[in-house]
This record gives sequence, structure tokens and C-alpha cells, in this order.
Amino acid sequence: MELPVNKTIINIAILLSFALILISLIRIINYPVLQNTYNATSVDRSNMSEIEESTCDIFSGEWVPDPDAPYYTNHTCWAIHEHQNCMKYARPDSDFLKWKWKPDGCDLPAFNPGQFLRMVRNQTMAFVGDSVGRNQMQSIICLLSKVEYPIDDSPETDEQFKRWKYSNYNFTLEYFRSPFLLRSEERDSDGPTHTGLFNLYLDEFDESWTSHIDSVDYLILNADHWFNRPAVYYEDGRVVGCHYCQIPNMTDLHTNYAYRRAFRTAFRAVNGRRRFGGAAFLRTYAPSHFEGGLWNEGGDCVRRRPFRSEEAVLEGVNLDMYMIGLEEFRAVEKEGRKKWRLLDTTLATLLRPDGHPSRYGHWPNENVTLYNDCVHWCLPGPIDSWAQMLQHLIKLEATKD
Ligand SMILES: *[C@@H]1O[C@H](CO)[C@@H](O)[C@H](O)[C@H]1NC(C)=O
Ligand SMILES: *[C@@H]1O[C@H](CO)[C@@H](O)[C@H](O)[C@H]1NC(C)=O
Ligand SMILES: *[C@@H]1O[C@H](CO)[C@@H](O)[C@H](O)[C@H]1NC(C)=O
Ligand SMILES: *[C@@H]1O[C@H](CO)[C@@H](O)[C@H](O)[C@H]1NC(C)=O
Ligand SMILES: *[C@@H]1O[C@H](CO)[C@@H](O)[C@H](O)[C@H]1NC(C)=O
Ligand SMILES: *[C@@H]1O[C@H](CO)[C@@H](O)[C@H](O)[C@H]1NC(C)=O
Ligand SMILES: *[C@@H]1O[C@H](CO)[C@@H](O)[C@H](O)[C@H]1NC(C)=O
Repeated sequence: MELPVNKTIINIAILLSFALILISLIRIINYPVLQNTYNATSVDRSNMSEIEESTCDIFSGEWVPDPDAPYYTNHTCWAIHEHQNCMKYARPDSDFLKWKWKPDGCDLPAFNPGQFLRMVRNQTMAFVGDSVGRNQMQSIICLLSKVEYPIDDSPETDEQFKRWKYSNYNFTLEYFRSPFLLRSEERDSDGPTHTGLFNLYLDEFDESWTSHIDSVDYLILNADHWFNRPAVYYEDGRVVGCHYCQIPNMTDLHTNYAYRRAFRTAFRAVNGRRRFGGAAFLRTYAPSHFEGGLWNEGGDCVRRRPFRSEEAVLEGVNLDMYMIGLEEFRAVEKEGRKKWRLLDTTLATLLRPDGHPSRYGHWPNENVTLYNDCVHWCLPGPIDSWAQMLQHLIKLEATKD
């Protein structure tokens, strides 16, 4: 007879060591990416600060006070999305604006709009993903607004596709809304949780973006929170299961199953575009910060300062989602068919529970889905640091070319 107690202890021990391995992997895994993206011989050695910048892991660090921030306001920038215009909706505190990301081994230079525009002259940058991707694009528009405002060159008025033109620099900025990165459709606008029920075709491209990237120089992909919604999963045209769909006799599959396949399919689509010669970035998972309940059960984000790195651990769903993105990124990077780059914002983002709109993304009496928004980011706000990271990565690209 086996002793159940011993078995439990052994199982816990196995689980624990697995978790520890995963946590230490996060730090280790970051390393090779940066080494890959950096070719020491191609950097001008006379400029020491640039060398430090190039070898430094910009994705692990701390938030430190920034007396110069913010770099724009809702008066100087009109591109702030309504639900992220926190000052307009009377957010009472402003300390959350006064922090900057400080990597462990170096300084991340402040975003330099003139330099950014010179680097992307004649080029196209496209964000593909959900509203957090749009949030990042609007942060970039606001940061660039010191130098130039774009004109809206979108062919249609809907919010699925936006195109902005910077005429002085012949720079084009695009946003393709594709929250699952895959072909999908809404099967029921209500569904079991009143957040819709979706059909996800796990092995099919979302051609609304995949067929429009050939001339894109910087493609920035993201997939985050939509995978938590109820959905029916299809492969090879047939139902393979679902996530919380409440349909009789359908196998319940974990969101991780769909999330991993979404990356595989999206990455395969990019690899398959023969004429696409740009750099493709995966912007890694952006943790949300609901506390005291789920998003639809009164959860909120009321903290007023960043965490220090030892105060927050990447765990649970955040860790799973992050690792899935990272693993699939590793795999596609290894194939080496396109220039794959990692925009690893997860740790910096995890440390900013104070940067979300919470209830300051709308008037108190307004009926909005995300009443306490702990998913998106106030503008200005922590997400502006993603532009600094992106600028750093683009600079590395330029040094290599
Ligand atoms: C680094 O750059 C040099 C010169 O441009 C090139 O010869 C070399 O192959 C590159 N190395 C790697 C690992 O890309
Ligand atoms: C070194 O890099 C800094 C920051 O990009 C720049 O301001 C400076 O002019 C560079 N110095 C030289 C000698 O290239
Ligand atoms: C900007 O924020 C202020 C509060 O700081 C608010 O009174 C104003 O309406 C906002 N303006 C716009 C254009 O959002
Ligand atoms: C941008 O394109 C114009 C016209 O094709 C060309 O004259 C110019 O050199 C290009 N600039 C850069 C930085 O590629
Ligand atoms: C703008 O950039 C494109 C390449 O993206 C180039 O073909 C075109 O000539 C440029 N136009 C001008 C006016 O520089
Ligand atoms: C579900 O499966 C059970 C057992 O296999 C079967 O009796 C039942 O008819 C099925 N229901 C539907 C709606 O297919
Ligand atoms: C909010 O909107 C939902 C769905 O649109 C509706 O069912 C509900 O009654 C509304 N609540 C209020 C207070 O207007």
C-alpha cells in the first residue's frame, strides 16, 4: 500500500521545484535574446554609452522617480483614448506620472521624438493586437507630438484599422485590431458571462492583417486578455473544444491551449509572407492588476505607487501566459526565417499596479463594461516606457543594418 501522505508531499515538492525552475528561467531566458540582438562588432566602440546600452538587459530593473515626467498632457496631445484620459475623469493623484524605468545595468534614455522619427523615416510601423496595443500606439503618438502630429489616413472610419501619416518624415503608423491574432467571429454577443462567445479558428490566419504586412518595417504583435473570454475552438474546420462555453458535451479546454496556438498561427502567417522583410516584435504579456475580486466582481486597482521588484512575483496566470508567449517566440526565432525581436515589457508592467485608469476612465454614472479598468494604462503613464524600450530596440536594428 502506498502512503497517500507521502505521495502528497512528493507531489508538492515536485510542483515547488518546477515553479522555482520556471521563475529562475525567466531571468536566464531573457539573457540570450539580448545577446542575439546585439552584434558587438557592428557598434561604434568610441561611444561607450551606446555600448553599455547595447549590452544591458533593459527589461529587468526598477521604477525610479522621474522629476521631468510627464512629457505630455491631455492638453498637448489629442490622441489619448477617452477611457485612458484619466486626468479628464478627475483622477485625484498624479504621483503615478513621475516614475521612469531604470534597467539594472544601465539607463534607458528618455524617449527622443526627433531621433525616433529620423530612424523611421520612409518606414511603416504596425501594431497588431488588442486595445492594449492601441494604447501603446497612442502613447507613441503623444510622445512624438512634440515634433509632429500625424494626419489620419485611415481608409475607413471604423476602429478595426487605423493609419496615421507623418508627412515630414514619410512615416506611417498603423493599427490592426485583432485581439486573438487569428480568424475569429462573435458567435453570441451575450454568452455565458455576458462578454460575448467567440469562435476561434486556431489554425487560420486573420487575413485582415496578415495580408497587409508586406511593406511593414516594424510589426508589433500582442495578445493578452481576450483569451479569457468564453470561446469555441476550431481546428481544421472542426470544433475541438471550448473554454467556458456552457454548451452540452463540448470538451472544456484551457485558455492556454488557444493562447499557444494563436501565437503559432500568427507567427506562421508572418513567416509565410515572402515579401515581409521587416522586424517582427512580440510585445510580451501585460499583467492586469485587479485586487479584491475579478474584473466583473468588484475587483479594483487602488495602489498609488509602483512595486519594487522584490515586492511582486510573476506567478499563476501571469506566469503561464508570459511563458507561453516566450516559448513560442523562442521557437519561431530559432527557425530564423524573419527578424524576430522581443519587446519584453512584462516585468516592468507587473510592477505598475498604480498606472491603470481604475474608475477614472469614464464619468461615475457611465455604464461601461470595464467599470474599474485595471487592464489599460492612463496616458500619460507607465506605458510610455514601452516606447523607450522600443526606441532602444530600433536603435539596435539600425546599428546592425
Ligand atoms: C557581426 O557583424 C560582422 C560585421 O558586420 C559580421 O561579419 C558578423 O558575421 C556578425 N556576427 C553575427 C553573429 O551576426
Ligand atoms: C554617443 O551617444 C550619445 C547618445 O546617443 C550621443 O548623444 C553622442 O553624441 C554620441 N557620441 C559620439 C562621440 O558619437
Ligand atoms: C484635461 O484634463 C483636465 C483636468 O486635468 C480636464 O479638465 C480637461 O477637460 C481635460 N481636457 C481634455 C481635452 O481631455
Ligand atoms: C526617403 O525616401 C526618399 C524618396 O524615395 C529618398 O530620397 C530619401 O533618401 C529616403 N530617406 C531615407 C532616410 O531613407
Ligand atoms: C516614402 O517612403 C516610401 C517607402 O516606404 C518610398 O517608396 C517613397 O518614395 C517615400 N516618399 C517620399 C516622398 O519620400
Ligand atoms: C451528450 O452526451 C450524452 C452521453 O454520450 C448523450 O446521451 C447526449 O445525448 C449528448 N447530448 C447532446 C446535446 O449531444
Ligand atoms: C448597463 O448596460 C447594460 C447592458 O448594456 C444594461 O443591461 C444595464 O441595465 C445598464 N445599466 C444601467 C444602470 O444603465
